[in-house]
Amino acid sequence: MEEKCAILDCGGQYTKVIDRKVRELGVKSEIFPIGVEPEKLDGFGGIILSGGPSSVWESGAPKYDGRIFEKGIPVLGICYGMQLISDHFGGKVVPNYKTEYGQIEINIDNTCPLFEGLEKCEKVLMSHGDAVEKLAEGFVQVADTDGVTAGIYNADKKIAAVQFHPEVDPTVHGLDILRNFLRKICLFKDTYALEDRIQTSVDMIRRRVGDGKVVVLVSGGVDSAVTAALLVKALRPEQVYGIHIDHGLMRKDESDKICENLYKLGLTQMQRINAENEFFNTPLEIEGEKYLPLSQTTEPEKKRAIIGHMFFVVTEEAAKKLDLDFETAYLGQGTLRPDLIESGNPDVSGYAHKIKTHHNDVGVIRKLRDKGHVIETNWDWHKDEVRQVARMLGLDEEIASRQPFPGPGLGVRILCTDKSGTAFDSEDGTKKHNTLARFVSDTQNTYTGVLAPIQSVGVQGDHRSYKNMAVLFENGEEGDPADTDIDSLFALAKKIPNGLSYINRVTYCLNLAKEPERELFCSPSYICHEAAELLRELDDITTRHLMNKNLAQCFAVLLPVSAHEGKKYSVAMRAVCTTDFMTAQSAVPGKEIPLGALKAARDEIVERFGDKISLVLYDVTGKPPATVEWE
Ligand code: XMP
Repeated sequence: MEEKCAILDCGGQYTKVIDRKVRELGVKSEIFPIGVEPEKLDGFGGIILSGGPSSVWESGAPKYDGRIFEKGIPVLGICYGMQLISDHFGGKVVPNYKTEYGQIEINIDNTCPLFEGLEKCEKVLMSHGDAVEKLAEGFVQVADTDGVTAGIYNADKKIAAVQFHPEVDPTVHGLDILRNFLRKICLFKDTYALEDRIQTSVDMIRRRVGDGKVVVLVSGGVDSAVTAALLVKALRPEQVYGIHIDHGLMRKDESDKICENLYKLGLTQMQRINAENEFFNTPLEIEGEKYLPLSQTTEPEKKRAIIGHMFFVVTEEAAKKLDLDFETAYLGQGTLRPDLIESGNPDVSGYAHKIKTHHNDVGVIRKLRDKGHVIETNWDWHKDEVRQVARMLGLDEEIASRQPFPGPGLGVRILCTDKSGTAFDSEDGTKKHNTLARFVSDTQNTYTGVLAPIQSVGVQGDHRSYKNMAVLFENGEEGDPADTDIDSLFALAKKIPNGLSYINRVTYCLNLAKEPERELFCSPSYICHEAAELLRELDDITTRHLMNKNLAQCFAVLLPVSAHEGKKYSVAMRAVCTTDFMTAQSAVPGKEIPLGALKAARDEIVERFGDKISLVLYDVTGKPPATVEWE
């Protein structure tokens, strides 16, 4: 029988990370809401209860059916899941008994099958306010922090639970703990092979498309390249049409490379559409709201809406020219499993609740999906799996390992503004700048902090923010700023957004050894051909020098900020380390990126584009409080 593990979602932010880890360990998983009817779990060999924001003693705690514990299926509770289990079996969970956030050390009993092979002391990620004060009958404590229960086990019932999060990176041996649960408690073998899943995808395509035609939008990233390759594998060449839309916001040479590679793989009907003019200059009406063209728009969300909508307009136009329409033809998409989970797609999850609408899921696409005309070939894979599939299908390594690139492309990396002036033009701006300058000099007198008159997107709590950026300049007259004391720089960068609520991003200036003579000013700046061309080159320099295996992503951002008359722009280099993209750390120069590489990138930028670029910055902010993209 097929081995399957059910993940019951208690509303936790890491549910899809649990899903990815279980699949990485070779076990098929499906996500259900915590209130699932127990009958739906027939045939599952394991149950994982996720974390969640509620408290078991609250009246609004999520409802569940206690019969899920009577089916004899092994259970692992995580965080809120452990509290739910304790409460259900008669233990006592209390609020504010011990609040623990962040990576901490716990003691474990490594004779418990859940912790087999681990040390007696382990580093884990804790994030909880409530705690288990009294164990439920039949359970023993198998982990603790200073006497507070961090793990419980009931061998007879095969129910284990942990207060910490084994699914995320800061829990150093988290994957071993999940493996122990799946192999030693559920007794799963590793049977969920990627090869079989490729065949399942091919079978699905053949079953749904039959003799029909599929139009696949090829973006340049690995996801849509895999979709195109799978369609070519499953169907006859004349059934598959590839369309690559160059919106004028692609990276350097990207469009050429992707078209060449897919042609080699047998996608012979491949059209490349150069649509920069349409994307930049067309006014639109989207769901009754009028939009100015992209080239006159500064708001991040509006930029996204325009680009997303234009993709479909241009695709429909191109399909019409090919004599295809989506009444009969299908649209192939590279949507991944985590995006479909968040969209509440029934193919991947028993969870009907929609968390957010993903970019692959805008209005027009949803209508097509409802008609059954969207083919999502990658529905069963997370990002790392899709990379493996790409290799197995013979795509070039350059595409298989390509760093993520957002659908709106360089459009979210050209910061736009319709304002001009400095932070000092208003009383409020002056006050904010002065507070920042004081905060910096009081904390670290090696640096001067300057408020930049622009804002970028960040994420704090569960909300997106749009706040100011701080620039740090070295105070010294001489020397190379890239030789600064990195530890104190990063410590300061962490303190600023925590101390000053109007700042969500901090950058460090690499090309000026002291605060510039002139104030930082911004001038009106929009997406245009010149800006995109300039950023393509800056991005190419940044990637060539900085990209390495430690980084999840690395790119350049064009900013409408300057400290020099006659220069309109500055550039920020961004290099981040992350595996889940929910959180990210700025790569540390000298550790995750060689210092020499950072200096070489800066020097090439100054040498080739010094006439246009004022400041060369390095983004030293994590996510949160910033986001990976600046928008
Ligand atoms: P943020 O900026 O939210 O980004 O920290 C997290 C990751 O998502 C990527 N990203 C996108 N990917 N379409 C995509 O396919 C998009 O619209 C989009 N926006 C952000 C971003 O590059 C990073 O990897």
